[in-house]
Amino acid sequence: MNELRSKVTLEFERRYGTAPAIVTRAPGRLELLGNHTDYNEGFVISGTVTNATWFAAGPADDGICRIFDACHDKYAEFPLAEAEKKVDGDWVNYVKGVMQEMQQRGAAAAAFNAVVGTSLPLAAGMSSSAALEISAAFALAHLWRAEFSDDQFARIGQAAENNFVGARTGLLDQFSAIHGRAGHLLIIDFRTLEIETVPFPDDVAFVVANTGIKHDLSEAYNERRRSCETAAELLASQDDGVTALRDVTEARLDAAKSHLPLRVYRRAKHIVGENARVIQARQLLSTGNIEAFGALLFDSHDSSRQNFDNSCPELDILVELGRTLPGCLGARLSGGGFGGISIHLVQAAAAATYCERLATAYSTRIGTPPTTMTCEFGGGAERYV
Ligand code: GLA
Repeated sequence: MNELRSKVTLEFERRYGTAPAIVTRAPGRLELLGNHTDYNEGFVISGTVTNATWFAAGPADDGICRIFDACHDKYAEFPLAEAEKKVDGDWVNYVKGVMQEMQQRGAAAAAFNAVVGTSLPLAAGMSSSAALEISAAFALAHLWRAEFSDDQFARIGQAAENNFVGARTGLLDQFSAIHGRAGHLLIIDFRTLEIETVPFPDDVAFVVANTGIKHDLSEAYNERRRSCETAAELLASQDDGVTALRDVTEARLDAAKSHLPLRVYRRAKHIVGENARVIQARQLLSTGNIEAFGALLFDSHDSSRQNFDNSCPELDILVELGRTLPGCLGARLSGGGFGGISIHLVQAAAAATYCERLATAYSTRIGTPPTTMTCEFGGGAERYV
């Protein structure tokens, strides 16, 4: 049995004196290309990793909701009647937010006991929060006998983040966590929610390097989203065919440059470029041109740095090192940005050496090594009853 699955199950039995009624698993994801495009109705290439959050749950008969985090040794409890109370910065907000959103969609809430455990780095850009939301939503829906479709579950997680936690994030993380497919990448159209799956070649691998700089997405993220919405509104006022930045070509954007505030133009430039890169990458992946795909990752990072201002010096150093180290085909920041992780597409045979060299070179520059890991692409969220 998976190590974390037995850890949360055994801990549940130890704390609550009975077996859990359900255990769920929701994976983290890597955003491989298509940065901040999801809320602009654009395209993203993502993949779910084997690192995941596990949630063991059972009913509680005293009106108290209890959650123990077995990996960080943290415990929280609150009366069911006070589940709408948010505590700023508290990890339990993700679960409370999910509870609110499920209730608003008709679920009858009941108190529960739970144990959670994760192998994902927190607040690093690998969607640990979405993994918590989806694993909790799957488990609570089972306990509460509430039925939702996969897409509704994804929306519940996103709404928890938007309405309760306060970050106006898109649907990428929760949608990926649910629809992930082992050994495959997902190419997602966030206008139609269509997914194309592409096998990930086995002679390359993604190395993740974590700067350890925690990002608080909410404020900077919400500002980026507002700029994108402003760009779309201004462009829509000149062209009926535009409802989101998804509808804008680079030529169209450049033609409108003088009508847009410079910052708004730069933000839009990133999104429009990212959408074009995903379309190009789809073609390259279908013909097995991995080197050209890797080059697009470097382009994406340059655009984040120059246009979207969501990089930071540490991420820039990791990506620059990627350009010089042998075996690296491409590298970029991944996820919201402002810290967190960079991803490096490398020759699979060179992955272990690459991690060592990257850590040493980064350490020489910054003083402390990044945490590195080689990711494997695993399947989407699951329930074990
Ligand atoms: C965060 C958000 C996603 C997406 C990415 C950037 O992970 O939760 O919705 O916008 O940032 O692509």
